[in-house]
Amino acid sequence: MGSGRVVVVGSVNVDLVVVAPRLPGPGETVTGGDVARHHGGKGGNQAVAAARLGAAVAFVGAVGRDDFGDAARAALDAEGIDTRHLATVDRPTGVALVVVDERAENLIAVAPGANGAVTPAAAVSALAALAVGPGDVILACREIPSAAVAAALAAARAAGAATILNPAPADGLDPAVLDAASVVTPNEAELAVLAGPGDAGAAARRLLAAHPGVGSVVVTLGARGALLVARDAPPDAVPPAPVRPVDTTGAGDTFNGALAAALAAGRLLPVAVRRAVAAAGLSTTRPGARGGMPTAAELDAAGAGQGTPGAGQGTPGAGQGTPGAG
Ligand code: RIB
Repeated sequence: MGSGRVVVVGSVNVDLVVVAPRLPGPGETVTGGDVARHHGGKGGNQAVAAARLGAAVAFVGAVGRDDFGDAARAALDAEGIDTRHLATVDRPTGVALVVVDERAENLIAVAPGANGAVTPAAAVSALAALAVGPGDVILACREIPSAAVAAALAAARAAGAATILNPAPADGLDPAVLDAASVVTPNEAELAVLAGPGDAGAAARRLLAAHPGVGSVVVTLGARGALLVARDAPPDAVPPAPVRPVDTTGAGDTFNGALAAALAAGRLLPVAVRRAVAAAGLSTTRPGARGGMPTAAELDAAGAGQGTPGAGQGTPGAGQGTPGAG
């Protein structure tokens, strides 16, 4: 199996979390328990998910010159992530205000702060310094400026690396950004923004038709698992792992980090999606975005993510095992 690196280009936040009986509506106050502070940010979470699963991970992003920034950097360092390209800038570290309800659902408002200072030039020069190339997987999310995401994906593709775009959040995304992504990983709401509402399989096909550079769309379906729609294969519905969730914050990030780790290890996309679904399920069983993210041993012990892909999906050369080929 291969052993490429995972390079995450994305956001880092500190999450301030209140668990309440239910999520508030507009103009409403709900009362919950004591506030908890967790490490977060979609990019940071994705990097940690990949590192826990054994990938060599580097992170490209920015934190503020403040206590939150120091703590966020230390948390990534503690997971063995290369933070040499995590800049320290004169803006406050990103903060997410999170409410989690008794059904483990969440509501999140983000103050991006330093994440907004990630520039296209910084992202491109970091990828050049890391000498990314064939075998590496570059994973980008959208809590940093779109221009930086676009530049990172284009540079990574030009260098022969595989590229994953997690279009979260999808609002305001320049559609041209998608064209440099081998794999796009929206949830259903994000897919509706990108390709219109309706059936996930049909919307994924519309996205593929509109973006010839994209090889596959993987739609994350929450408690229903995921749907892999590749350009050259029938849709592959991946069922969820049976878990009892306590906090779904970061489940999508775990999915993306695990997907990148599996692809960097040389697994075919249908197999990587199965491991990612299993990892995301396990991530929901503990509080905080990163609390339940599994190690490779925990994922294997759960007996999940090793499943056999559907007929015709695991064939090398079918366009599913080489995300960079998109
Ligand atoms: O996806 C979950 C993450 O979204 C949280 O950790 C929060 O920081 C926001 O970025």
